Amino acid sequence: MSAHHGANPLRDAADRRLPRIAGPSGLVIFGVTGDLSRKKLMPAVYDLANRGLLPPGFSLVGFARRDWEDEDFAQVVHDAVKEHSRTAFREEVWQQLSQGMRFVQGTFDDDQAFDTLKSTIQDLDKSQGTGGNFAFYLSVPPKFFPKVVQQLKKHGLADQREGSWRRAVIEKPFGHDLKSAQELNAVVHEVFPPHEVFRIDHYLGKETVQNILALRFANTLFEPIWNRSYVDHVQITMAEDIGIGGRAGYYDGIGAARDVIQNHLLQLLALTAMEEPASFDADALVAEKTKVLGAVRLPKDLAAHTVRGQYAAGWQGGEKAVGYLEEDGIDPKSKTDTFAAVKLEIENRRWAGVPFYLRTGKRLGRRVTEIAVVFQRAPHSPFDHTATEELGQNALVIRVQPDEGVTLRFGSKVPGTSMEVRDVSMDFQYGESFTESSPEAYERLILDVLLGDANLFPRTEEVELSWKILDPVETYWDKHGKPAQYESGTWGPVEADEMLARDGRSWRRP
Ligand code: BG6
Repeated sequence: MSAHHGANPLRDAADRRLPRIAGPSGLVIFGVTGDLSRKKLMPAVYDLANRGLLPPGFSLVGFARRDWEDEDFAQVVHDAVKEHSRTAFREEVWQQLSQGMRFVQGTFDDDQAFDTLKSTIQDLDKSQGTGGNFAFYLSVPPKFFPKVVQQLKKHGLADQREGSWRRAVIEKPFGHDLKSAQELNAVVHEVFPPHEVFRIDHYLGKETVQNILALRFANTLFEPIWNRSYVDHVQITMAEDIGIGGRAGYYDGIGAARDVIQNHLLQLLALTAMEEPASFDADALVAEKTKVLGAVRLPKDLAAHTVRGQYAAGWQGGEKAVGYLEEDGIDPKSKTDTFAAVKLEIENRRWAGVPFYLRTGKRLGRRVTEIAVVFQRAPHSPFDHTATEELGQNALVIRVQPDEGVTLRFGSKVPGTSMEVRDVSMDFQYGESFTESSPEAYERLILDVLLGDANLFPRTEEVELSWKILDPVETYWDKHGKPAQYESGTWGPVEADEMLARDGRSWRRP
């Protein structure tokens, strides 16, 4: 396209609506027998194929210890797709996709297996036309990251030929604290250049999360009041009704704060609080996100402004739920947090003095993720006191899931002869406004990896800044006491309510 065409805004707008289709490429998944792979990655690959967004010769290679042939692997993918994919199963799509499926058996220190992987990829280049372009998806526990990337290097799998690419996709958790994250970054960057490393934070792949940017920067309505002059505080909640399920091995010793505050919730905070980026390019976004994450401060008194909890037995959805300490595989003396709440402040001109309260927990009242921007009360009220007692604070609530949309809460006159004002809300719901259903986060993210689009992937600096924020909290918790117990199916420990009450505020009950 000539520069002349590139300058035409109408043409640009039209171009951006064309589907972005991946070029010749393949995906290698390490940890392919795991839950994430079956429930999210395999279905996402199929959904992309079904939407016509993968190239005809796209190849999927599984690497694991199981004694499987290619056909066994294909069968596992088939079952996973049938059970978990978002779009309908179509035999012709499956037939084409399964042509490019291969399985390589081995452990991570098995040199022979990595040689086999290399020849498998070379064969796929010939038979499927993958063009040497491969992404290596590390869906494995972090302790294996160094080994796998070193093996990729040793066997020449990370070498990019002229005109082709090799990329590393890394699942969370990216480290356990700042130090381990830095060590991991060093290991990965020895093998892959920074622009070929894609760290997954699947929240960034969610439509509603990307919509934060559209809401803020494609409109004139919100940005003028998006600051300390109008905003009283911000609440970011990620509540889950499920317990830890079969993930004891992963979760115990990690806990809620490391599992989701360090990544998902701090990314939501960054998108909510950052300045407008110069463009929607990865570099521009990272610049703004790192700036705001770098300005985040913890309160001095961590006892008063952080809370951790652990679920005790209770009732959830009409069923009896066991407590965390009774879950299979959990050390009965475990001090792991399944609920975490922190108050953060952002030291910049826009946000000085506006607290951001983050909370997350398992086995809470219901599954809901939302960002609530709560506004100050009107500076003066001409109505007499009794007429506004049912009026709360104005709020803009970005409903990330499951009931995706945006709600604006404001006061309105109750019909009648007196001037009584009460809260009402205006709602935008995805389901009502759009006919397209939202793709799964992993569809978007896998496609972006294949296209080399990095804007929805946190960079090294963001990951490290996030650990810098969380580390002092974890250290404090380690040294002081243990998590407060809360009954399953409730909204967390009373200490969390007390934490906000101390500031004269209360959590929303979504
Ligand atoms: C993962 C966490 O990153 O996100 C899990 O490790 C959590 O503990 C999950 O359950 C929630 O994802 P979603 O997309 O269902 O909100």
